[in-house]
Amino acid sequence: MIIIAIDGPAAAGKGTLAKRLAKTLKLPYLDTGLLYRATAKRVLESGGDPTDPLAATAAAWELSETDTARKDLRDASTSMAASQVASIPAVREALLAYQRSYGSANGAILDGRDIGTVIFPQADVKLFVTASVEARAKRRQLELDGKGQHLTLAEVIADVAARDEADRTRATAPLIPAEDAILIDTTNLNADEAFAHALAIVKEKAAL
Ligand code: CDP
Ligand code: CDP
Repeated sequence: MIIIAIDGPAAAGKGTLAKRLAKTLKLPYLDTGLLYRATAKRVLESGGDPTDPLAATAAAWELSETDTARKDLRDASTSMAASQVASIPAVREALLAYQRSYGSANGAILDGRDIGTVIFPQADVKLFVTASVEARAKRRQLELDGKGQHLTLAEVIADVAARDEADRTRATAPLIPAEDAILIDTTNLNADEAFAHALAIVKEKAAL
């Protein structure tokens, strides 16, 4: 059973990389950011405040597959609220067992912020994917453009930078590379190059 943990800041290319590795290695893939985004969406839609621990924790416990399957979770309006609910320790606690059991069933690739540090500290391979804030914001801007959400680069940089700062400085499960994580800087790599590089690391580390 193989666990591959992929962590890193916003729009670094974690999901794109994780999906391709999962397909090639025939492993299940869990985008853990969707759990926090779906929790935030529930709070926002019930008129609640995503920084309110009671409202956010109740939403996290009530989460169902209908919530996480929604197509609008990646909207720019949900990102900061996701980061806000994610800083609440009881929310993280509520989402922990699901993530562990998902991976423990048949092995998996999970991407997020704390997979290698908190969810699976014993993961077989830990990758920390990063890139400059400008490169990441340009990629996210392009993705949002494709969905008809036209934001200026300055707006996307502001969202990405504010979220990274909040994620890095929170007390519980902050965004930091695990000690044994391998860093992949994709600032000057396209998705194909990042994938080839990561696959070589995974094959070596997991002796596949
Ligand atoms: O795709 P992007 O990198 O923009 O964000 P995401 O992975 O969908 O995560 C949204 C937010 O959820 C992040 O800014 C984090 O605050 C939080 N998150 C987390 O705290 N822990 C995880 N394992 C995954 C996401
Ligand atoms: O999951 P995360 O928020 O880290 O990033 P993502 O949702 O995978 O989005 C990254 C975007 O950048 C996608 O549109 C990719 O095509 C693109 N990209 C990439 O993933 N990796 C690179 N090395 C370069 C670009």
